[in-house]
Amino acid sequence: MTVLVATEKPFAKTAIDGIKKVIDDAGYKLELLEKYTSKEELLKAVENVEALIVRSDKVDSEVLDAAKQLKIVVRAGAGYDNIELAAATKHGIVVENTPGQNSNAVAELVFGLAIMAGRNMFDGSTGSELKDKTLGIHAFGQVGRNVARIAKGFDMAVSALDPYCPAEVIEAAGVTPITDLKALYSGNKIVSLHIPATDETKKSVGYELLTLMPKGGILVNTARKEVIDEEGLMKALRERPDLKYVADVKPDKAAEMEEEFKGRVFFTPKKLGAQTAEANINAGIAAARQIVAFFKDGDKRFQVNK
Ligand code: 3PG
Repeated sequence: MTVLVATEKPFAKTAIDGIKKVIDDAGYKLELLEKYTSKEELLKAVENVEALIVRSDKVDSEVLDAAKQLKIVVRAGAGYDNIELAAATKHGIVVENTPGQNSNAVAELVFGLAIMAGRNMFDGSTGSELKDKTLGIHAFGQVGRNVARIAKGFDMAVSALDPYCPAEVIEAAGVTPITDLKALYSGNKIVSLHIPATDETKKSVGYELLTLMPKGGILVNTARKEVIDEEGLMKALRERPDLKYVADVKPDKAAEMEEEFKGRVFFTPKKLGAQTAEANINAGIAAARQIVAFFKDGDKRFQVNK
């Protein structure tokens, strides 16, 4: 049995060591394809492997067609919008993610970005604190819940909207549930995005919602660039010089935005929310364990293409 770890953005060495141990202990073989620069390399590497671990790496129908022996793909992380689920299902390949494993890392970055925006991108001018500010969490999944937990340490007033999460779960976390999307944006100085990129959510956050935000509003996006309507965001930033946008996901129009909205936007050079040794270890080892559990016990608990 061969397990391939294919990561354009490699895991920390300690995570690879941990993955290797799990795979070795199971009697399987580990192959590594790190920092690859062309799809051809991936197509070749997947040819004879039974299991594949990826991060945000694109696993489309071409990759799945080339992977003749593949039985399972585990996305070591939360969002699986990089994997063509229908094609995997057609080939009878199980797709899993590792929910929660990197969520603290992403949640911590939310506050790094929010503080940076509140302090005017550290330009030395007078900024503002997080204490007593309102925070709206857009989607209360694993990352959203960690954001809520940390926000309490900052003494923030936290509310959350998530049509897929029961209000009681939100309340139990000491967070005010909100059902009206507009109210989430109009009622919170800081909004943190945690929605996945789906047909329903793509380009769903733009001019209309952003212009509802109170004065000095900050939108923090550690989710996916696709959920933003970039034209709408730019229009809102143009009309509302008090708004700021900070993101761990470089928009397509990053250069234009940096030029036009200098000091009010910030983008990490590449997606680094989950790029901590801890998150790499958690997600990477969970992925390896899930693969072993799948082959040894038929465990498909984390399957997402059901
Ligand atoms: C996720 O969906 O888990 C995060 O966006 C992390 O993605 P990454 O593994 O590419 O850093």
